[in-house]
Amino acid sequence: MIRPALLSALLAAALLPAAPPTLHEALVAARADRAGDPGVAAAFQRLARAHGTPLYIYDRAHIQAQARALKAAFGPRFPKLRILYALKANTNPTVIGLLREEGLGAEVVSVGEIETALRVGYKGPEIMFTSSSKGPGEIRRAIALGTVLNVDSLDELGQVQAEAKRQGRKARVSFRINPGVDPHTIHQINTGISESKFGLHLEGGLAFKAYERAAAMPEIALEGAHCHIGSQITEAEGYILTAKKMLGLVKELKERLNLKLAFLDLGGGIGIPYRDGQQVMSPEDLATALQPVWKEGVAAAGYEPTLWLEPGRFFVGGAGTLLVRVNTVKQTPLKTFVNVDAGFNTLMRPAMYQAYHRVRVVGKTQDPTLVDIAGDVCETGDILAEARTLPRPVAGDLVAILDAGAYGFSMASEYNARPLPAEVMVDGDRATVLRRRGSHGDLFRNTGAKAGGK
Ligand SMILES: Cc1ncc(COP(=O)(O)O)c(C=O)c1O
Repeated sequence: MIRPALLSALLAAALLPAAPPTLHEALVAARADRAGDPGVAAAFQRLARAHGTPLYIYDRAHIQAQARALKAAFGPRFPKLRILYALKANTNPTVIGLLREEGLGAEVVSVGEIETALRVGYKGPEIMFTSSSKGPGEIRRAIALGTVLNVDSLDELGQVQAEAKRQGRKARVSFRINPGVDPHTIHQINTGISESKFGLHLEGGLAFKAYERAAAMPEIALEGAHCHIGSQITEAEGYILTAKKMLGLVKELKERLNLKLAFLDLGGGIGIPYRDGQQVMSPEDLATALQPVWKEGVAAAGYEPTLWLEPGRFFVGGAGTLLVRVNTVKQTPLKTFVNVDAGFNTLMRPAMYQAYHRVRVVGKTQDPTLVDIAGDVCETGDILAEARTLPRPVAGDLVAILDAGAYGFSMASEYNARPLPAEVMVDGDRATVLRRRGSHGDLFRNTGAKAGGK
């Protein structure tokens, strides 16, 4: 028996119009292909009115959930675990700070990223510095900060040794190893195959030679081994093969050099779904597949280094939406082009990697039409999404490009003299500006040119 007071409350709730979605709910709804809903459209219009377009929108809850999912999958299975965030995926300080709050370390690829990490609050020793081409100034700064240098060649090892000697410090070193594994991803982001420029090859004993040489250097503290076989990896096999090979090296170093490493870093690269309905390996899938291989490998080596992982895209990719506005729609004899106010200067991935991003026309559900979403850069290749059947957009409509949180803003440029877009972070129903939109004044910075003609 329902009490009368409860009954009237239920009736009132049923008669009230549903509350409009919060900004966070609108982002989630757009991912579920409900960007046509009027409430969802109103949320995107609010964002565009307040912050303009093109606009990078990051969903705080999504970033947190991804970090927690990875920790939950690996934590119980790998008691000696350290997860780092590869800053290059999204270098916005607030995004980095959020992942730091989740307990993640920092993996960087330049001294600029080191400075960014320091500004966010990381200490030098919490940072891992990977690059196949470090300049003398970068090596100097990293050693002075106590950062781990992920050394990529024997030439670099010599330079690190000399600089450490000059500073009277021990340089903390791991080697980036090229394990010769093909993770079956896009060629341009396939980094662990033998012909790639990255790392010291296991093949031919190059990697072992580097450890042997470094072990005899008093200026070098050998701390780990590292590899990163590629990006947007959606199956566990590549990681399994890599882990076996790397654990083989760990064993060999112990047996032949009596060298025990503090950590073994299996890199980043964990893929995310970019298409509706796409199935990819989950963190659970990867952790479950890796655990027996790890156990066997460390048993054979006779000790357990800490497992390090350093994903970037996994944390931030799906959290980002690029909101753009339609300038014009043009019919040619062959195609319908939807010309929007962003191009590969804003989101490089489609032009650079032929990457696929889901696209939603905000507030539209009718008249499915085959279109190309074309950018505003003066290049034929500036197509953000090709041959998509979408509700027919018209000038002024908003278009949401999904999964743009990784390698989106961090790869953006001012090409064609278009200022950089703004970035905002959504938390519930609030959007906070993380980076103001660039200005035309920015285009002349450092040039000495004065603003304005007559
Ligand atoms: C050395 C290294 N670690 C980590 C990453 C992060 O990769 P992802 O964003 O695919 O996880 C990269 C990306 O290129 C990398 O080069």
